[in-house]
Amino acid sequence: MGELTIVVFSGAGMSAESGIQTFRDSNGLWENYRVEDVATPAAWLRDPELVTTFYNERRQSVMQALPNDAHLEVVELEDLGNVSVITQNIDDLHERAGSSNILHLHGNIRLAKSSGPAQEKAYYPIDGWKLEKTDLCPDGHRLRPHVVWFGEDVPAYEEAARVLAGADVLIIIGTSLQVYPAAGLIHFAENAQKRYIIDPKADELDVPKNFVKINASASAGMRTVLAELKNR
Ligand SMILES: NC(=O)c1ccc[n+]([C@@H]2O[C@H](COP(=O)([O-])OP(=O)(O)OC[C@H]3O[C@@H](n4cnc5c(N)ncnc54)[C@H](O)[C@@H]3O)[C@@H](O)[C@H]2O)c1
Repeated sequence: MGELTIVVFSGAGMSAESGIQTFRDSNGLWENYRVEDVATPAAWLRDPELVTTFYNERRQSVMQALPNDAHLEVVELEDLGNVSVITQNIDDLHERAGSSNILHLHGNIRLAKSSGPAQEKAYYPIDGWKLEKTDLCPDGHRLRPHVVWFGEDVPAYEEAARVLAGADVLIIIGTSLQVYPAAGLIHFAENAQKRYIIDPKADELDVPKNFVKINASASAGMRTVLAELKNR
């Protein structure tokens, strides 16, 4: 038998135990901000100051956070096979935990890119937590956060679909599966023999019947899954 291919598909709940707010839970981020004011291309055009400040605050809280047990348990999966992490998160906690293969569907808040038309594929590390008005790309356009906003394409979509199609085991962690097109990606894992969804609200989430629903936090749920996979 070949090596087991395990794909982890994570969302904001993955980082909840690190103290980073989720998106839609009560006291989630969007109780205080309207999506259209801070996370769309139109918002950037209308008020780049507000958008920059919003993401500067997010970056500061990401930099103060540490990977939690769930991130570390995802790294431990690498003892069992070939592991890919596909994350909707813009934080870098999977990286800091030590996962080897990580695909960010919605960007990485520690990076910036040009807001001009020509340079969208070049990414610039942000030194510290603050992106400033005066930070420009080599062509003189203002830098914006490397985050995929609502209404923008998801450049890593095809690659994520390909990775999911090769999954023997799929583990979904901490996502309400409401942000499209990302949420639709889970259907590419047609060949997976085992599918888990870990979320304190797993019971309420809309996934196909062949998923094992684990109603637990990311860290407790990952402990269960790790134990089960180790016993296979
Ligand atoms: N950390 C981050 O980078 C971050 C944080 C907030 C939002 N976002 C962005 O916003 C979008 C939000 O969609 P989403 O589906 O990822 O998030 P979401 O907020 O819509 O859903 C979060 C899910 O996490 C669950 N959850 C809460 N606490 C948990 C815990 N301790 N363990 C496991 N699960 C827990 C909730 O029940 C919910 O189902 C994403 O696309 C992402 O880009 C990113």
